Amino acid sequence: MEKSRVIYITIGAGILGAAIFIWFGFYDIAADKKHWKITEWFLEVVRDRSIERKISNIETPSNLDDIQIFVKAAGNYDEMCSQCHLAPGTTTNELAAGLYPTPPDFTESSFNDPARSFWIIKHGIKMTGMPAWGTSHSDEEIWELVAFIQQLPNLDNHSYVELVAKYGGSHQHADSHDDNNMDKHSPKEQGHKNHSH
Ligand code: HEC
Repeated sequence: MEKSRVIYITIGAGILGAAIFIWFGFYDIAADKKHWKITEWFLEVVRDRSIERKISNIETPSNLDDIQIFVKAAGNYDEMCSQCHLAPGTTTNELAAGLYPTPPDFTESSFNDPARSFWIIKHGIKMTGMPAWGTSHSDEEIWELVAFIQQLPNLDNHSYVELVAKYGGSHQHADSHDDNNMDKHSPKEQGHKNHSH
């Protein structure tokens, strides 16, 4: 047999085998069964290459370590992120434990790629549970969250709870926004949205 024919037949058989495997449901999609190493590697490469491409022209504000900036996100973080990414004083909870991939614990490691964090918080990541917060929050609020997760490993439980109590613990989106974004977050508007379904 010609060498090229052998190659075509091998490739064809490989594709057919993969198609049968997928079509008959042999790949276990359950969140409590880990991916194969190769699937995990593949998904991570797809994710990281996609993000790298998207973030190349994001400009990171220079004031992220300004205390006036990051404290503003305390209430939002507590309401929107802590169930999955934890808060000082917690080691896990039912939601975070059941998710796969496991959400990174922001109280432990610091995430020093602000443009990457910004993009992920704004757009979310498909099939992971990480929501796209940009659908409901301004870029300014997202940068505040980026700043906040950078500081989180330095906060103990006590200072975290204090900040959350002081800065919008009831999810009333920062008092400082008197522009149009404010309207988006008013309880009236949200109530209205829910009724329109
Ligand atoms: C329902 C669970 C859930 C909630 C709520 C959630 N996340 Fe995530 N987040 C995830 C998961 C899961 C991942 C990991 C995705 C992956 O591994 O590809 C993730 C990843 C991230 C990352 C990427 C870390 C990195 O560089 O790899 C950032 C940043 C992030 N989340 C920030 C936030 C912030 C800020 C909030 C709140 C505004 C939030 N997340 C709310 C589940 C969640």
